[in-house]
Amino acid sequence: MVVSPPEDKPHRDTPAMKVTFAAPALPKSGALVLAVGEGVGLDGLGAEADAAAGGALSRAMAAARFDGKARTVVEILAPAGLDAERVLLAGAGAEPGERAAEDLAGTVCAALAKSGSRTATLIWPRSDLAAAAGLGAALAAYRFDKYRTVRENEKDKPTLAEFTVATADAAAAERAYADAAKVAEGVAFARNFVSEPGNVLYPTSYADSLAPLGELGVEVEVFDRSALEDLGMGALLGVAQGSAREARVVVMHWRGGSKEAPLALVGKGVTFDTGGISIKPASGMEAMKWDMGGSAAVAGAMKALAGRKARANVVGIVGLVENMPSAPAQRPGDVVTSYSGRTIEVINTDAEGRLVLADLLAYVIARCTPSAAIDLATLTGAMVVSLGHEYAGMFSNDDTLAGNLYSAGLAVDEKVWRLPLGDAYDKLIRSDIADMKNVGPRGAGAISAAQFLKRFVGETPWAHLDIAGMAWTDEARPTVPKGATGFGVRLLDRLVRDAYEG
Ligand code: BES
Ligand code: MN
Ligand code: ZN
Repeated sequence: MVVSPPEDKPHRDTPAMKVTFAAPALPKSGALVLAVGEGVGLDGLGAEADAAAGGALSRAMAAARFDGKARTVVEILAPAGLDAERVLLAGAGAEPGERAAEDLAGTVCAALAKSGSRTATLIWPRSDLAAAAGLGAALAAYRFDKYRTVRENEKDKPTLAEFTVATADAAAAERAYADAAKVAEGVAFARNFVSEPGNVLYPTSYADSLAPLGELGVEVEVFDRSALEDLGMGALLGVAQGSAREARVVVMHWRGGSKEAPLALVGKGVTFDTGGISIKPASGMEAMKWDMGGSAAVAGAMKALAGRKARANVVGIVGLVENMPSAPAQRPGDVVTSYSGRTIEVINTDAEGRLVLADLLAYVIARCTPSAAIDLATLTGAMVVSLGHEYAGMFSNDDTLAGNLYSAGLAVDEKVWRLPLGDAYDKLIRSDIADMKNVGPRGAGAISAAQFLKRFVGETPWAHLDIAGMAWTDEARPTVPKGATGFGVRLLDRLVRDAYEG
C-alpha cells in the first residue's frame, strides 16, 4: 500500500493553493493585500487604493489602531471604489527580510483561507523578497484533510485557491521561487507522513511511499527483514519484533555533487510507539503516531534536495519500525547485539528510538563514510521538558557542524540549541552485563540518550537533533499550521545550501 498524498484523494473538497507571480496592479477581483511596514503607512499602489476607496483604508487603520506590527492584519470588506471584494492590510513589521516576508504571507494566507475569497493578490514592492513571500504562503496553505468526507459547516471549507505576489520583477521572483517551491514540497511531503495515522502509515507502507523519490533521481534502496537480519541490525530488529508489521530500512542516495563524501541524514521512523512491554499510559498515546517525525524530515529533505537538484552528495537513511507489546515483543532486560557488534541491555523497551538509530548510524558510517552524519529523532520526553516547543535540542561532537546547524536554524526559523555531552553522562549508561544499557537515570534523560548514540559514531563529525518538542504543534504559527510541522526539512535544506553546495 502506498500512502497517497492528500491532494490525490477523491473526496478532497478543494484543490491545493497555487502560488503565482505577476506585475504590480490592483486586482479586478478577489482579495487585495497590502503590506504595511511598522510606522510606515500606505504608499505606492496602497496609497492609490486608499485614494480610490475615498480614504477608507487609512481610516480603517486608525480605527483598528493598526501600526504595521508583524503578524497583525486589518480587514476591510466590500470597499467602495475598488474592484477587490476585500482589502487586507498586513503588518510587515520593522525588520524586512526573508523571515518577515514569509511570516507576512503566511499570516495573510491563514487569514484568508476560509474567507470566501478564491484569489488573493499581495502588492509587494520588494522583488528580492517575493520568493520568500511565495514560500510563506505555500507553507501556510498546507492542509491535511484527506480523511474528511463531510464538513459540519459549509463555511469551514477552504476557499483560497490562488495567491499572487504582484511585484516589479515578477520574472526574477518566479525563477527564485522555483527552488523555494521544491522546499515547500519537501515540507508537505514530510507533514503528510507525520499526519498519517498508524493504521495507514506503518513500515512497509511508508517504505513503499518513499519509492517515488526515484522519479526525482534519488536512488532508493529498501531492506526487508531478512536483509536486516543478514546485516545484523539486532538493535533495530529487537524493537520491531513485537509488531505484526515488518521493519524496513530505506536508504536514499542523492548524488548531486562531484566526488566528495556524502553528508548522511539519519531519521527515527517509529511509525507508532506504544512503549512496547514498558507500555506508555493511555492518555495522549495517540501522539505517538508522529514518532516517525525524524524520518519524515529526512525524507522531506531528500525530496527538496533532489527537487531543486542540489549540488551536493547526500545519503538519507530511515529506520521504520512499530514498537508494540505482544508475546514476541522484546522484554525489559533483553540483551541485543547491534550492527556495530556492541551489545545493549534493553532496560526499558520504551527507549526504542536510540536502538533504531544506533544501527542506522553505525551502518551509514561504515558503508558510506560520510563527511558528517546528522540524526533527527523524536527521542525523549525530557527534551520537551528542557526546551519546550521553541528549539530542538542539538548534541554534537563537532563545533563547525554545530555552528552550521545553529545558523541554518536561525535562517529558516527551525532553531536548534546545543546541549552538553561528556564522560560523566556517558557513565550513566554502563551496564552490569552488556556493553551498555539503553537508559540512564531520570535526570538528564535527553543527554544520556545522546550519549548512547555517540557510542555508535566513532570519530565522524556528528550531530543529533532531538525534535520531540518540534515535530507536532497544537498552535498554528504563520508558516506552520496546527499539526505536523515538517520540522527539519527546511533546516537540512538550508544547511546543505549554505555549507555543502560548492
Ligand atoms: N518517542 C518517545 C519520546 C517522546 C515523548 C517524543 C513525547 C515526543 C513526545 C521515546 O521513544 C520515549 O518513549 N522515550 C522515553 C525514554 C525513557 C524511557 C528513558 C521518554 O522520554 O519517556
Ligand atoms: Mn518510546
Ligand atoms: Zn519513541
